[in-house]
Amino acid sequence: MRAFGLPSALVVAALLSTAIGTFAAPLSQRSPQANSTSALQEREGSPTNSMTYGSDESPKQAHFGRNSVVRGVNLGAWFVLESWQNPSLFLTQDIRSMQLNDEWSWMNAKGSKAQEDLVEHYRTFMNQSDFEAIQRAGLSTVRIPVPFWTFVPTVKPEPYLASRQRKALRDALTWSKQYGLDVVLDLHTVPGSVNGLDNGGRLGEQAFADDPNNAKRALNALSVMTDMFVNNASYGGVVKAIQVANEPKINERLSWSVLQDYQAAALKTIRAAIKPSAPVVPTVLFSDAFQPWSKYDALLPSDAYPTSQIAVDHHQYFVRAWDSRVPKDDDELIDYVCAIGPRIAAAQKKRAVIVGEFSLGRETRCVDYHTCQDVKMSQDVSTLNSAENNKFMRRFFEAQAASYEQGGGWIMWSWKTESAAAWSYSAAREQGWIPDDVSDPAQWLYRPADESQRKALPDGQCITTQPSRSPRFATQS
Ligand SMILES: *[C@@H]1O[C@H](CO)[C@@H](O)[C@H](O)[C@H]1NC(C)=O
Ligand SMILES: *[C@@H]1O[C@H](CO)[C@@H](O)[C@H](O)[C@H]1NC(C)=O
Ligand SMILES: *[C@@H]1O[C@H](CO)[C@@H](O)[C@H](O)[C@H]1NC(C)=O
Repeated sequence: MRAFGLPSALVVAALLSTAIGTFAAPLSQRSPQANSTSALQEREGSPTNSMTYGSDESPKQAHFGRNSVVRGVNLGAWFVLESWQNPSLFLTQDIRSMQLNDEWSWMNAKGSKAQEDLVEHYRTFMNQSDFEAIQRAGLSTVRIPVPFWTFVPTVKPEPYLASRQRKALRDALTWSKQYGLDVVLDLHTVPGSVNGLDNGGRLGEQAFADDPNNAKRALNALSVMTDMFVNNASYGGVVKAIQVANEPKINERLSWSVLQDYQAAALKTIRAAIKPSAPVVPTVLFSDAFQPWSKYDALLPSDAYPTSQIAVDHHQYFVRAWDSRVPKDDDELIDYVCAIGPRIAAAQKKRAVIVGEFSLGRETRCVDYHTCQDVKMSQDVSTLNSAENNKFMRRFFEAQAASYEQGGGWIMWSWKTESAAAWSYSAAREQGWIPDDVSDPAQWLYRPADESQRKALPDGQCITTQPSRSPRFATQS
């Protein structure tokens, strides 16, 4: 997710502005709301610059975000710590007073106790019941953020716990296969870090481009990851996409051309690591790096970026503290969300665009654990569950889904948080802000169930103003 701490949050705000800026222009015309299934089928029919893998027995391209609509959740804070998602790890007696923000400093502060606590965290933060619940929620996909140190050794002075994530990650893939979930393996941190955010491992460090060894180690990590999880047929080809970096920040520390070179090399590395016996060839997912998607148009079509094999990951947050142009007014915000859909639909014609992170959060409350220490989930829910806001949250979710499904689909950040209800899919679903089963069109309250109702919506709207039946929420205050 986003950065922790004010200085980088400001940088993120500036970057988000760039990306959201592509949406912010008033939309004079609106493309018709496509029935997403048929729209996707149409796209599939169009010829693509696909690689051939030799014989008819060769592995199949996953076409992630193009074969079917992605509806997913991130398994954030499982293998890469985020203090606001797991404050309990940061508030143990020994380090509580240090008020730490990232895994780097957490590892250093915990010292010899780090290993035991982390291994226990990997074992318990998510278990089989979560995967079963994700399936029951009607979701198709999990995006699993993993750090580079799962796959390659650390070097001094990196304090991270190398390779101990593997057991839980194997379990995650086994359970994904068992419950029919597609997996995005997301190399969420790379050596040196491409963003200087807490989710890059070390807050304030953005040194990826400083040393060519960093890219080399990242590519090695991708190669090991691919061999471990794509080639092993016992996972049944659940890995439908591999993301090569998360939220790179283009600035004086990291140029677009360095990122481009890395991405092209990553695609080649992954392709080279895939054995002919692999059941599925995953799509390679590139972060849009908060840049306009037209930057990827300029790269296409080419052998380095074959349309059939890549997809773009866009992150979309609506927190006014990070982007002052996000409307304050509820109805205006819904319109703002609906305006994103046609933009994504247009971009999707060139290559799949998946909104790989979004949330129902508008405030930074509990996205900074220092501001909500020891707050329980129910307490955070109670700050958002007025009669009026319960309904808004449901509309907000349905509008985002309706918009993003005009492209490749969506993956919410995140399945689980200790507080921060608006950022927790499971808590939001329990409260009724999200339908119990998102795969069942009958459970949507604001989103038209069929094409004719969609066409009847006033210009610029993607959901109705009135619910199809009375929404029910778990709590109201
Ligand atoms: C998963 O963890 C939850 C909460 O700790 C627990 O209630 C549940 O029984 C666990 N499920 C399995 C399959 O171990
Ligand atoms: C393939 O995955 C299974 C399930 O996790 C594991 O038991 C097996 O050892 C793996 N095979 C190889 C060659 O790594
Ligand atoms: C979408 O289009 C497909 C193919 O035309 C059709 O079978 C399906 O019923 C449509 N679904 C909805 C929800 O309109």
